[in-house]
Amino acid sequence: MKQSMEKNSVGIAILGFGVVGSGVAQVLEKNREQIWRKASTWIEVKYILDVKDLSATPCAACAVRDLDPILTDSRVDIVVETIGGVEPALEYTRRALAAGKSVVTSNKELVAEHGAQLMKLAQEKGVSYLYEASVAGGIPLLHPIKQCLGANCIQEVRGILNGTTNYILTRMFRDRLPFGDALFEAQTKGYAEADPTADVEGIDACRKICILASLVSGAHVAPASVPCEGIRSVTAADVAYAASAGYKIKLLGRALMEEDGRIRAYVAPHLLPSEDPLCCAEDVFNAVVVRGDAVGDVMFYGRGAGSLPTASAVVSDILEVLREKDMPKDVDWTVTPAKEPSANTPLLSRWYIRIPSDPEQLRQKLGQVTFLSRQGGGPEESALLTEEMDAKRLQQSLSGLGSYTAFRVLED
Ligand code: HSE
Repeated sequence: MKQSMEKNSVGIAILGFGVVGSGVAQVLEKNREQIWRKASTWIEVKYILDVKDLSATPCAACAVRDLDPILTDSRVDIVVETIGGVEPALEYTRRALAAGKSVVTSNKELVAEHGAQLMKLAQEKGVSYLYEASVAGGIPLLHPIKQCLGANCIQEVRGILNGTTNYILTRMFRDRLPFGDALFEAQTKGYAEADPTADVEGIDACRKICILASLVSGAHVAPASVPCEGIRSVTAADVAYAASAGYKIKLLGRALMEEDGRIRAYVAPHLLPSEDPLCCAEDVFNAVVVRGDAVGDVMFYGRGAGSLPTASAVVSDILEVLREKDMPKDVDWTVTPAKEPSANTPLLSRWYIRIPSDPEQLRQKLGQVTFLSRQGGGPEESALLTEEMDAKRLQQSLSGLGSYTAFRVLED
């Protein structure tokens, strides 16, 4: 067995041995036999590249600080990039692809910003650049959209794409925990990014909806072009008002394909009816609804963050690289920017508003509204649900009334 094992093996290198990179090594070790049966080859971790000193760890034998030995080692076919961020991940990925290694990644920032050029480079070199783990962690989502839903025109993707903010909103809703305590818990559990700003401000969800929007449109939807609002503006009062009317507040990424081929993508907190299927995603769980013109709505649900769930997606991409080894490579989207929505087709919705203004004035400005109440709510503020309107009309109606909170209400 040992002899055949050595002959029949594929070497990999893991760049970045943090939460996800160490999870990849753990899954490969834990499910070694099972993975061998699927891949018909053993998968051996030959190198681990990290800035940390790994000399006192079980990985010491394969620890390196430099990419060169990995690139020149012909036994390494696949590079796992779990460094995160743009640099040095971009440079390392380019060099690995240029050296004829396939790369699999969990790095949403890199894929959202530079995925198109990296896929093109991979195609030119006849290798793969796969990124299933970059969106919704362990949930199989990108391959099912590409393959199983390939017969459909995708009309919309909407989802809870960030585990940390979902965890925070869940704890605020269910246990009335203050925002800061819930964030601290999410960080200690390893869900939040090192700098949780990316989670809390919606930037992480924005990168993920950009990847999804690029994938379904075939053109690059750049994060800088996508309106993005996080959850800092969500207060305990908003959570209580929403609950009083049977809604939960969830941070959603949405990508809508418009009939003229334009893509509307954005990230913002929304009120969802408690019975909406997406509301079953609590704590760190993610859920994504994909609407196809033939299939209708399909929902994907599972763990969107954490070491082993994300590693599950990375390792499945390693298996995919081996499966598609001799097949022609494709790019999922081009570097050409996607067409942005036209101002003539605004997005309509009902809105939740909390504003320090009196009800009569609001009725005059907004027409038909439904006022909400909560325990402890005083006369100094009003909370209400509007009828359907676009963002511009809402802004015009409320101008001069002081600062207010506004979230879209999403009802099918
Ligand atoms: N910080 C991210 C989240 C990790 O909370 O979803 C997975 O991308």
